[in-house]
Amino acid sequence: MLMRTSQNYLNKNFWNKKNILITGVNGFIGSNLVNHLLSKGAIIHGISDKTEKNIVLRYNNTLNKINFHKTSLTNKNKINDIIKSNDIEVCYHLAAQVDVNIARKNPIDTFDSNIRGTYTLLECLRNSKKIKSIIVASSDKAYGDYPLSKLPYKEEYDLRPRYPYDVSKACGDFISHCYSSEIYKLPIITTRFSNIYGPGQLNFSALIPDCILALMNLKTFKLRSNGKNKRDYLFVDDVCELYLCLGYNLYKNNKLSGEIFNAGTGTGYTVDTIIKNICSIENNKSLYKKIKSQYNKKKSIGEIENQFMSYSKLNKYFGWSPKYQLNNGLYMTIMWYKEIFNKYGKNKMLRNLIK
Ligand SMILES: NC(=O)c1ccc[n+]([C@@H]2O[C@H](COP(=O)([O-])OP(=O)(O)OC[C@H]3O[C@@H](n4cnc5c(N)ncnc54)[C@H](O)[C@@H]3O)[C@@H](O)[C@H]2O)c1
Repeated sequence: MLMRTSQNYLNKNFWNKKNILITGVNGFIGSNLVNHLLSKGAIIHGISDKTEKNIVLRYNNTLNKINFHKTSLTNKNKINDIIKSNDIEVCYHLAAQVDVNIARKNPIDTFDSNIRGTYTLLECLRNSKKIKSIIVASSDKAYGDYPLSKLPYKEEYDLRPRYPYDVSKACGDFISHCYSSEIYKLPIITTRFSNIYGPGQLNFSALIPDCILALMNLKTFKLRSNGKNKRDYLFVDDVCELYLCLGYNLYKNNKLSGEIFNAGTGTGYTVDTIIKNICSIENNKSLYKKIKSQYNKKKSIGEIENQFMSYSKLNKYFGWSPKYQLNNGLYMTIMWYKEIFNKYGKNKMLRNLIK
């Protein structure tokens, strides 16, 4: 089904004064999406279970410009109340427990947030008469392991995850399809994006933030593979623009409901390439050599070997393609970490962020 739908998603007239709900509003992607939507005049209602994650919203000076609700997504009464009393028309469901190490140690909390959280939210939205557009963030991890010859993943591939975080995302993904089916008819698009990086990411179990902190001498780098695993990386501003595109187009055309969209750059970069690029931006050959010397000793356990995504369906439907090149994105990301650590003080940041 080819449908070149409208690209007017950047138009202020559409977003101005619209009530938007963002779950996981103070997370990495949520806090970036806030900037994009506020600049269009949207009214933002945000949900998160943790106020200590408000660092980036505070740093961006946006916490006081949104309606922040501290609650877990699993609290059905509160979520119902927020949706009903604020006439929510567009919802971005981003909240999730995303740390793969935490998920391995304690899968139950991850299943609770990512699975129960998703069906509780969608069940509450089912009772809303105003909702026109729901974008659910699934992940490339939901696909599970496919041989290199089958990559990039295609939207029609079966989901066959095995590890806790991956399984939790696949379950949320299936639940979204159930709610968009002819039984419930909720307007839902599901996104399966590759790894995302950029300013605002404070999850240091992810490769790029972890490596940048080591580069700043703030932390020892934790190698989780032999350097050969391939991953794809989207810059967060590309993702936010894409979210505006999807939210707008589903609002205007409910025939898009039930669609799944993959996004990545189409290129798989080895872990070694990412580390090498980060170190070379700061001209730190010794860190690169030190990490490289550990590759042979490291086996990856509980990690998918290769993952990368194409954006061809998105391009066909909306003419969308990513704008940021890896090295530009990495440079902007390094600069951001330097600024925020300088502003809040290194010790305080480390105490609060690295557990
Ligand atoms: N970052 C990536 O590389 C990436 C890639 C693909 C998909 N995704 C998906 O995008 C979404 C956002 O990811 P992120 O990197 O911004 O994560 P993040 O951890 O930075 O933000 C997630 C937010 O959700 C909140 N949250 C978690 N459980 C909750 C609950 N039960 N109730 C209320 N709030 C809860 C957390 O407090 C946090 O603020 C996630 O669904 C993730 O699976 C992320």
